[in-house]
Amino acid sequence: MSSDDVAGYKRAAAARALEYIQPGMKVGLGTGSTADLFLELLAARIRNGLDITGTPTSERTAERARALHVPLADLNELERLDIVVDGADEADPELILIKGGGGALLREKIVAASADRMVVIADESKFTDRLGRFPLPVEVVHFGHVTTRTRIVNAAARLGYPRLTPVLRRASDGGIYRTDNGNCIYDCSFSEIRNAAALAAALSQITGVVEHGLFCGLASVLVLAGPGGVRVVERQRP
Ligand code: 5RP
Repeated sequence: MSSDDVAGYKRAAAARALEYIQPGMKVGLGTGSTADLFLELLAARIRNGLDITGTPTSERTAERARALHVPLADLNELERLDIVVDGADEADPELILIKGGGGALLREKIVAASADRMVVIADESKFTDRLGRFPLPVEVVHFGHVTTRTRIVNAAARLGYPRLTPVLRRASDGGIYRTDNGNCIYDCSFSEIRNAAALAAALSQITGVVEHGLFCGLASVLVLAGPGGVRVVERQRP
């Protein structure tokens, strides 16, 4: 499958997600290449008269949205959102996600938790029966991050992942990658995550961990596009 094909699938998923947007909505704007395509399509609709207010999940998305003249407001002003549209690194049939490949997992999760509906857009290659092939990003405070890494390794071992080797994410200049919140990221290759809820709960309890990229119970709609067209997987939020 060529990169042009994948870009086309991402665009097709983004276009389908536009159907969930209604006038007057408060819309969370995701981060990543698929979310960028959605933003472009949304901006075109806004130019044709659609009235929505967006709130970005990253500085990068905020910059792009401003360049496209998408009306923005701070999440604190909007409080509750009608919907967020975002990409994912992996998604399973229960709509549990791995996110954070682009480093925006913390704000993405805050925005998703503030929205009535989370619509995830992706090409089919992101859909998997077993999460974990994509390394799980774990955002940690810079202070003492090496000690936090040890606590992550120990917690993983207690859950039956004895050989976890979290890798500190680097920026393109070779320095430590910093998120929009000034934190670091450890990318954790689990290979296969057997119980996402248990792992999510264990990671959330570790001192020094700010957030992790497992999104459990947040996504309500998954829009997947591939060679066979676009399909939608839905899940009711409890
Ligand atoms: C950013 C994310 C992205 O949604 C995820 O990495 C998918 O990106 P892309 O659409 O470029 O494949 O979680 O933090």
